[in-house]
Amino acid sequence: MADIETTLIEERSFDPNEAFAKDANLSPGEYTELISAADQDYENFWADLARKELQWTTDFEHTLEWSPPFSKWFVGGKLNMSVQCLDQHLKSWRRNKAAIIWEGEPGDQVTLTYAQLHAEVCKFSNAMESLGIQAGDRVALYMPMIPELAIAVLACARIGAPHSVIFGGFAPKAIRDRVEDAQCKLIITADGGWRRGEVLALKANVDEALDSGCPSVEHVVVVERTENPVRWREDRDIWWHELVDQQSTRHDPKAFDSEHPLFILYTSGTTGLPKGVVHATAGYALWTKLTSKWVFDLKDEDTYWCTADIGWITGHSYIIYGPLQNGATTMMYEGAPNYPAEDRYWDICERHGVSIFYTAPTAIRAFMKWGDAHPMSHDLSSIRLLGTVGEPINPEAWMWYRTVIGKDRCPIVDTWWQTETGGMMIAPIPGVTTTVPGSATAPLPGIDAAVVDADGMEVENGKGGFLVIRKPWPSMLRNVWGDPERFQSTYYGKYEGVYFAGDGARRDEKGNFWIMGRIDDVINVSGHRLGTMEIESALVSHPNICEAAVVARPDDLKGQAIVAFVTLISGDADSKMKEELQTHVANEIGAIAKPAEIRFTDALPKTRSGKIMRRLLTDIAAGREVGDTTTLEDASILRRLKSDDDE
Ligand code: WTA
Repeated sequence: MADIETTLIEERSFDPNEAFAKDANLSPGEYTELISAADQDYENFWADLARKELQWTTDFEHTLEWSPPFSKWFVGGKLNMSVQCLDQHLKSWRRNKAAIIWEGEPGDQVTLTYAQLHAEVCKFSNAMESLGIQAGDRVALYMPMIPELAIAVLACARIGAPHSVIFGGFAPKAIRDRVEDAQCKLIITADGGWRRGEVLALKANVDEALDSGCPSVEHVVVVERTENPVRWREDRDIWWHELVDQQSTRHDPKAFDSEHPLFILYTSGTTGLPKGVVHATAGYALWTKLTSKWVFDLKDEDTYWCTADIGWITGHSYIIYGPLQNGATTMMYEGAPNYPAEDRYWDICERHGVSIFYTAPTAIRAFMKWGDAHPMSHDLSSIRLLGTVGEPINPEAWMWYRTVIGKDRCPIVDTWWQTETGGMMIAPIPGVTTTVPGSATAPLPGIDAAVVDADGMEVENGKGGFLVIRKPWPSMLRNVWGDPERFQSTYYGKYEGVYFAGDGARRDEKGNFWIMGRIDDVINVSGHRLGTMEIESALVSHPNICEAAVVARPDDLKGQAIVAFVTLISGDADSKMKEELQTHVANEIGAIAKPAEIRFTDALPKTRSGKIMRRLLTDIAAGREVGDTTTLEDASILRRLKSDDDE
């Protein structure tokens, strides 16, 4: 674990704000009770919460069946996720409360009350059923951040058709890989979406993906958003508005098994192909609901805004499912944070009276760079809680967030979790926990996190190690779509019956966890996970490339930046080629995967057994002194790589 930094950062700590704690959803006493209830009788702890929080059509018989890596939670129970999110609120005063407040990048706005959102979801559920979509069929969503995306997600949940949301920044090949892997029958997209004043041509990307494959797809439903021209295939493509207009606003929801797959979400791993992380209904419902209530302190009066894209797990859990189950008002914004100017987020916060704001450290670092004048020119007094997710937050950014946005008054919740965990795992409880800048603090009640060494032994406080979760939890992934062996080997292959998160961490004397970042071949660029292998395969698919190795180097803004070392078969090692390769990767995966830097080399450093020495390349990319080179086959390569560096 030599690469894990264990130096202690100067620690400042912040006790819960008294005024906040007085009204918090969870008091210190309740928190202690939850922790001890989970300690005493783990299964009963979860069973009680599940009976209290969820609307069961049929009660469950067993709380947990655990045969690592496979878990079943609340076995025998039946429920419907869209009823959790919508129908239950229609019986109360929340019927006419805003469920979603949406703002488009051009400034257009839509507010949907719970009753209106319910009606739209029913219409779209009927629409999908009219196309022959049944429970269990997979539906791909490749959409901008518009209300129809939330409607489509909830309608899929309502009819039991697992959704696979594909981030709108992905390229046609990435769409094709995901759609083919899950054998989706239907794709929902839009003519385009707005980003920095430009139209992202989403339908065109879907067309390209379908031109080269995806035989399982029967229909493409297209939302009219930007009115840019689109290619049309009469036998396959249908406009959303034409399809939905004829549908009834009533839809009788079926109850599904607790373990019915709710969605698949692809995430990068250590091999070239992304993994389809499968989540089940009841356990995911319970944990996203509870964590929203505990960690965000979500209340009926709040206007809650999570700035993530629904294409990532954060958007699934904390724009849609968590907040709506709690009957909250959740904001959704379509566009860029700096359009038309760098104060767009603060302008939205002021105009809508946002009270809870959840974003990524990379965004916070961008705000810092853009200057305090932007947030200072807006009245942010409505904000009462701040959150971060996606990557380690550096203490400087944490302090800036606290001072400039939170005015030294708002608690900050730094939440550690993953696509695979479904919901937050390590995070402060705002009325209870003493926070420390840079630490996600402690595991939530019911979550058994630890830091262990290579043999699975818990390491001493202060020492670096691997982050693991020792007990199963309700919102854990159930499988990797179509690949149970990969599920077992990736997450449960290292330690028996213990979940391996892939992050390095250490715990300090106070029990606070410090997440050190990925220890596998995953790069975290602006909070987005990318596999080095994925980018390498994209590079070597270029006709001029012989071999490629991709590593990360620290980046002030993005957390990490991608550096690619490539060897050419032909062509010139010049800036034109660099640009061409960057564009090639953007076309193969998406702009987020574009290497920040491309370095040409005539050979890559390898061990005698032929393995690329990534650690060496990582050191070179970061401009550090290179580490141990004793296993290097040809030392002259290193000299040449380093001299490139000096150029
Ligand atoms: C990183 C995002 C430090 C971590 C919800 C994890 C974090 C990966 C934090 C998951 C945090 C997420 N502090 N690191 N608060 N939150 N990470 O699947 O490396 O997109 O393994 O889920 O992001 O990324 P994913």
